[in-house]
Amino acid sequence: MCGIVGYIGYRDAYPIIVKGLRRLEYRGYDSAGIALYDGNDIQMSKTKGKVDDLEQRVRKEIKTAGSVGIGHTRWATHGVPNDVNSHPHYSNSGDLVIIHNGIIENYEPLKKELLNRGYHFTSDTDTEVLVNLIEDVKKNEDVKLGKAVQIALNQVVGAYAIAVFDRNKPDEIVVARLGSPLTIGIGKDEFFIASDASPFIEYTNNAIYLEDEEMAIVRRHKKVKVRKIKDDSLVDPYVQELQLNLEEIEKGGYDHFMLKEIYEQPRAILDTYRGRLRVNDGIIKMAGVDDNIEKFLNANRIIVVACGTSWHAGLVAEYIFEDLARIPVEVEYASEFRYRNPVITENDVVIAISQSGETADTLAAIKLAKSKGAFVFGVCNVVGSSISRETHAGAYTHAGPEIGVASTKAFTTQITVLTLIALRLAKAKGNISNTDYHYHLQELELIPEKVERTLQSNEHIVGISDRYKDASNFLYLGRGYNFPVALEGALKLKEISYIHAEGYPAAEMKHGPIALIDEQMPVVVIATKKGHYEKVVSNIQEIKSRKGKIIGIVTEGDKSVKNLADFVIEVPETLESLTPLLTTIPLQLLSYHIAVMRGCNVDQPRNLAKSVTVE
Ligand code: G6P
Repeated sequence: MCGIVGYIGYRDAYPIIVKGLRRLEYRGYDSAGIALYDGNDIQMSKTKGKVDDLEQRVRKEIKTAGSVGIGHTRWATHGVPNDVNSHPHYSNSGDLVIIHNGIIENYEPLKKELLNRGYHFTSDTDTEVLVNLIEDVKKNEDVKLGKAVQIALNQVVGAYAIAVFDRNKPDEIVVARLGSPLTIGIGKDEFFIASDASPFIEYTNNAIYLEDEEMAIVRRHKKVKVRKIKDDSLVDPYVQELQLNLEEIEKGGYDHFMLKEIYEQPRAILDTYRGRLRVNDGIIKMAGVDDNIEKFLNANRIIVVACGTSWHAGLVAEYIFEDLARIPVEVEYASEFRYRNPVITENDVVIAISQSGETADTLAAIKLAKSKGAFVFGVCNVVGSSISRETHAGAYTHAGPEIGVASTKAFTTQITVLTLIALRLAKAKGNISNTDYHYHLQELELIPEKVERTLQSNEHIVGISDRYKDASNFLYLGRGYNFPVALEGALKLKEISYIHAEGYPAAEMKHGPIALIDEQMPVVVIATKKGHYEKVVSNIQEIKSRKGKIIGIVTEGDKSVKNLADFVIEVPETLESLTPLLTTIPLQLLSYHIAVMRGCNVDQPRNLAKSVTVE
């Protein structure tokens, strides 16, 4: 993963780069570093820790003058997080300096060769190998930096987004990408380089998203030249106008991005169906689906590929596609799918779900499915992301930037998009009655307001969180549509509070997890009115008789579960297929408050990163 930032222009580079790194900390935050050209030489400072630690170190160590520089925030792959392994990395001569996001898979043989030629290495990173390889090519072939980068990258196997500059020619930064994102912000007489557009959004709305296997030389006062790394051919770059705004990527008065994003869900869900859902006309309009309707209608099955929270959204989709549209669905972890020689045919439709649109395994699964002739449809949040470009068609979730590492609004908006698609197909296939279809549309339109109402339980959830914050294990149970919600609730708690939690189908509890239940064990049971309610109530009885502590997520006005549970959290009534959009909310708040009470870093949990661009 890792975040990279660069600047070349007329302003002080340091504050721009540091602010940019903060915005990219979601990509990794175990170490950070910066290299600036001060007019005479390179000033470098780097440290284990976060961007705050870097700032402190910079104050003691270096001059921050200069209008050219690069910065990095790391999520370790090769080499433990420490000062030496932090980026940037110098080449042996000290002339070149590089930042890198990705993994050089063949770094060992390359390193061996360089060692034989007298190069030495101070870090354990693959990146230091790359910068020395570039230096070696530059010297031996007597070429300029851009050419040296190109020749070196043609020897490299792996993934990268890099930015490199030479202290002897500090009026240019060379960048390249394969498998990790890289964007160039185009200002007036200034350029920005970053993993995504958030570091430069207040300076320019114009950006070039480099494609895989492309590189660019970014020079002061010159047009950006983009080339293919393989054959050196020039590419005419598409300058995209960005829609992001600054407010969206700042905390806006909330203590954490996660909380802000939880509270944004009513708006985010509305933005997701805005313009697509026309209740009065009984129409769902989604260009990506409409233009490819035959592919969907003729599909033998739908295969969903995704990772993490997006995979949970895929599980919800399985229920809704099969239930409403009667299309068989398989949901696969992208990382398993791509390595297990799956049977894929031209009659399969693959739906790839990804908030970031950059997850390496999902991207690889898409490429595999495409190579077998399947039609691949993307459900992404980040506009212009690699997955959104790699898929044949798609639908954006329009959730706005999600910064908190624990995914919240991305999940509910993914479910919203998938629900719209399922309804659109159910109607086209004639598998849903008119009454049922209209009822679904009406209920979907009411979801933002019902999420808003659910959020009003926040104070009550603070109390429950306080009661169970010291538990060492949690169990989450749900059936049907709410089974994936149980998985997601458990994942949220694990991710940010480091409490062990398991999600389980409620009925499966008696095949194992029931052995764990004692008076210390909080069990969160999703027991909304529709969807096997009585059966779930029986499961609650089973927990109760083993003295487990029960937190029930129930429909407003529920009595049976209230009588049995230690606590209940109410959600408004809705259609069974739409309940995940409501039952998820209290689980997000519960994990948020528990994590805060335990003193955890909610937005940047240990060992995690938001965008996993390594395999
Ligand atoms: C990481 C994030 C998760 C996310 C998963 C998939 O693990 O921490 O929140 O669900 O990646 O990411 P994607 O961007 O593909 O949805």
